[in-house]
Amino acid sequence: MIVAEGWAPCAFRFVWYDFDAKYVRSRGKTMIYLDNSATTKPFDDVIDSYIKVAKSYFGNPSSLHGIGGQAEKLLSQSRSQIANLLQVKPQEIIFTSGGSEGNNYAIKGTALQYQNRGKHIITTSIEHPSVSEACKQLTELGFEITYLPVDSNGVVSIDSLKNAIREDTILVSIIHVNNEVGTIQPVEEIGELLENYPKVIYHVDHVQGMGKTRLDFYKAKLDLCTISGHKFNGLKGTGVLYVRQGVRIKPLISGGDQEMQKRAGTENVAGFVALAKALRLTLENREENIKHLSQLKKCITEKLSLISAVKIHTPEQFSAPHIINFSIDGLKPEVFVHLLEENEIYVSTTSACSSKNNEPSKTLLAMGVPNVLANSSIRISLSPQNELAEVPIIIQAIENAIKKLQNVMGERNGI
Ligand SMILES: Cc1ncc(COP(=O)(O)O)c(C=O)c1O
Repeated sequence: MIVAEGWAPCAFRFVWYDFDAKYVRSRGKTMIYLDNSATTKPFDDVIDSYIKVAKSYFGNPSSLHGIGGQAEKLLSQSRSQIANLLQVKPQEIIFTSGGSEGNNYAIKGTALQYQNRGKHIITTSIEHPSVSEACKQLTELGFEITYLPVDSNGVVSIDSLKNAIREDTILVSIIHVNNEVGTIQPVEEIGELLENYPKVIYHVDHVQGMGKTRLDFYKAKLDLCTISGHKFNGLKGTGVLYVRQGVRIKPLISGGDQEMQKRAGTENVAGFVALAKALRLTLENREENIKHLSQLKKCITEKLSLISAVKIHTPEQFSAPHIINFSIDGLKPEVFVHLLEENEIYVSTTSACSSKNNEPSKTLLAMGVPNVLANSSIRISLSPQNELAEVPIIIQAIENAIKKLQNVMGERNGI
């Protein structure tokens, strides 16, 4: 039986059938997960690969016997496969435990390696804490950090970067896709500029960009680039730091020859095999996924912009297809998140790392958003597994939650 028909979000017509319980919220509720910037659901194939390797190829890749040799072979195949997918060389792939480690390693490893050349680092005012806090720690060792401002769209200017470069600058670290609002930085143009400064190491945090944007590491002239497996349907605790051949950075974890002596510790072979699979599945479908995510984002944004209490912060241009950040005038975002959760719709207040500290969004403040709005922002982050048919359900739930909260506030104020 058809329960709704002809709802045409942004020119996409679909029919809402009640045989598909997924879209009929009154019957057997099924969750709508919209917190994919925090983490994604691993692909079934990825989990299968992990289990298979963990069970059957449990050897230590450094062991000399055959069981170790099998694990070593799988590790090396995964490295080559990932290098192939990223169009770089296998020896440029360093396995890590994820985005935070990759960023810390890139920043501190560069600082320790090149401190005799200079102690100045440039980054932006809208980085993930794994970059900004790593930089802050370095100030205790005498490093100086310049945080580039952003405009109202959250974008840094090439001129401000150019003006910030000094004789003693050793590193420029730029977030590709901002995790809170989704702004994309002009990392290719920055790479071109930095070609004129061969002594400056260029690092890009590509954690939110993988699969949602196109980035050619060589063309963008990157020296270092961080990715994290669990942000593209891989497993938590897996990641890659790309280190361009010829770039040297000091290891942060010492005590073994693993990872070409750049990162000691017995390798998570099963996790890295799973990472290679997740990356292949992500990149094979990238174009299709970007198109689908862009349609979803457009639909949701258009519908949200019709709600008077909603203020959208994600810029229309220069933003990734999977993130929508907005505030609801005067409403507490935590309460709003829990109201949506009652409908099994899962969103987040800001980035997952800072969602519990109740501070205004650093990114929104840097974009010039007033404190009260920067303190009440909600992030929807999509995955290719979300569907257009979910849009009316999401919008309806948001409208209901706003009405409910406004009524409560009205009652409290005696209105
Ligand atoms: C832009 C960005 N960089 C780094 C990280 C840290 O990644 P991980 O959770 O893998 O440590 C995140 C996580 O949200 C992120 O969004």
